[in-house]
Amino acid sequence: MRKKIIAGNWKMNKTVQDAVELANAIKLDLAGCKEVDVVLCPPFTALKAVSDVVSETLISVGAQNMSSEDDGAYTGEISHTMLKELFVRYVILGHSERREYYKETDLWINKKMKKALEKNLRPILCVGEKLEVREAGETESVVEEQVREGLKDIPAAAYTELVIAYEPVWAIGTGKTASSEQAQEVHAFIRGIVKDMVGKDAADAVRIQYGGSMKPANAGELLAQPDIDGGLIGGAALEARSFVDIVKAGI
Ligand code: 13P
Repeated sequence: MRKKIIAGNWKMNKTVQDAVELANAIKLDLAGCKEVDVVLCPPFTALKAVSDVVSETLISVGAQNMSSEDDGAYTGEISHTMLKELFVRYVILGHSERREYYKETDLWINKKMKKALEKNLRPILCVGEKLEVREAGETESVVEEQVREGLKDIPAAAYTELVIAYEPVWAIGTGKTASSEQAQEVHAFIRGIVKDMVGKDAADAVRIQYGGSMKPANAGELLAQPDIDGGLIGGAALEARSFVDIVKAGI
């Protein structure tokens, strides 16, 4: 039985003060939540403050990106050491916004995945197709390439640590959610690829989140699907009530 994991990706929102307020409000309801893994992913600038707020709770903190390098002349980048110093446990990698606006490639994302795992951070690998890909009937081939390349050469044992997030790009921030059937179909497909890559045990163990306009109204149905093991929440994670309600839908 896979434990559900609900993560809030706050993207480029919240000042330190706003982040502390939001984290405190979420903590009121979820500090002791054992049934679901709860992860808050504020911007880098608020990681320390949010870590402090949730330090004595079961809530974890995640970053939204990480350098593939250890240290050195990489202006503007943040390393695994720097994240771990702030008690960060998870890191979102290869989000579609980073692929689109910052031209991150599968090869580069794979390098970050391996670095995160090597340093005992839990990476959340984001994959998902754009609208034109879905309309052209090419969802499976595009998602398969992202999964195979992003997870290339990662050993089976790591699949209990890493998380995959299926986020159809056409559903992100648009209010258009994939139907629970559409999402389930792709989740099962992804699990099948993992099985082919590293075997049944790893495929059964790996958690696959859904992301894209997930909200309290649709979370219950999505999370009830057999291959949907959680959510990566954008807009609805910026407000405590809706985020808490989504987590509760997963219990
Ligand atoms: P929304 O929930 O705002 O659609 O964003 C999803 C997402 O991109 C999470 O990473």
